[in-house]
Amino acid sequence: MMLVVPEIIRKKRDGEKLSVDEIGGLIRSYIAGDIPDYQISALLMAIYFRGLDAEETGELTRAMMCSGELLTFDYLPESKVDKHSTGGVGDKTSLVIAPAVAACGLKVPMISGRGLGFTGGTLDKLEAIPGFQVRLDTHSIRQLIEKHGLALVGQTDNLVPADKRLYALRDVTATVESIPLIVASIMSKKLAEGIDALVLDVKTGHGAFMKTFDRARALAEALVDTGRQMGKRMAALITNMDQPLGNKVGNALEVEEVLAILRGEGPADLIELCRLLSAYMLWLGRAVPTIEEGKDRYDRVIASGQALRKFRDLVSAQGGDPRVVDQPELLPRAGQSVYILSPAAGYVASIPAGVIGWAAVLLGAGRMTVQSAIDPAAGIIFFKKVGDSIEKGERLCELRFNSGISIEDVENSIRQAIQISPHPPLKGALVLDTIE
Ligand code: URA
Repeated sequence: MMLVVPEIIRKKRDGEKLSVDEIGGLIRSYIAGDIPDYQISALLMAIYFRGLDAEETGELTRAMMCSGELLTFDYLPESKVDKHSTGGVGDKTSLVIAPAVAACGLKVPMISGRGLGFTGGTLDKLEAIPGFQVRLDTHSIRQLIEKHGLALVGQTDNLVPADKRLYALRDVTATVESIPLIVASIMSKKLAEGIDALVLDVKTGHGAFMKTFDRARALAEALVDTGRQMGKRMAALITNMDQPLGNKVGNALEVEEVLAILRGEGPADLIELCRLLSAYMLWLGRAVPTIEEGKDRYDRVIASGQALRKFRDLVSAQGGDPRVVDQPELLPRAGQSVYILSPAAGYVASIPAGVIGWAAVLLGAGRMTVQSAIDPAAGIIFFKKVGDSIEKGERLCELRFNSGISIEDVENSIRQAIQISPHPPLKGALVLDTIE
């Protein structure tokens, strides 16, 4: 079929439906290098405004999934499970959950993404570990799953290449917050992994792409429906992302916090979410009969050190320096640091995660263009969470960065965004809803 790309862009711009052949043809030609980024960018913006219906979304998901090789682990008796987050600030749960669930005996073949907009990405966090390789071929991924029960890798030229290219383009063309594009991006990766079951962490709030609960619920339902249509066992949690998750934002800093959680320490919100998401994975993977038993299994592999050992094995097996597990000071460390102090006594009323995410990007922890390099050491450490009491002049947070940053702008944006109130704020729940 002959593709007339400007005509396809026009159709979507005018709200018309694209055919199966048009969607499949576009993805194939884009990956073959026959369609330039500027035409795909225009199409993404048209989809952002006009949307895709369920059939078009399913077709885009399938075309993206089939743009590379498909992993299969049917020959392994254990359940293959994964979890994916729609993107947040300080969300490092994947790095905890994958080794914890693998330590419980399930297989976790996890294909993740890089930072997108103001949200962090699992691959960027892993690459903060010196030597860690996220670009592996399918043979190496299979070996890791067979031997260690887990692999944390990125899309490559062979594995969901369409998502690799589109994800990077959406990041820099303000076309991330589109339900059909998020569904196709997430589900194409997850369906290419050869999994039996998937748990989704759909974020809502200031630091999420879905700002309202209703939009998050619509995204969760679309993701769960697409997975079920493809025969996967699915569950979704809708979780609050108004303030950053945990106390650390930025790639090496987040790895440090992951190590604390794997040692049974760390902030309460992060522990709660890691425990719950792991329990859902164990339950969907049929390793436990109830979510409560899943939480007990998670607690046991953390307390026994098995989850931490699994993380160390993963780091070594993917080329990283395993010494960082016991000596986090070997992770990259920024040369400069500035503290932000509270302007008043009272209670922390809000730490808007979206502003914090962009501040972290400006410090160097994320990307402004496709080619931007990440500074793994850059980021923010919070000493207070929403609801904590604070004295005037007490430390709210610390900014870590290297030279070349206009730090006053970042400081001002954070100072203006964090609210201190004389009264304790109402604290909302972390987990707002579940779809099972
Ligand atoms: N995570 C993904 O993998 N893709 C998106 O589009 C958003 C979050």
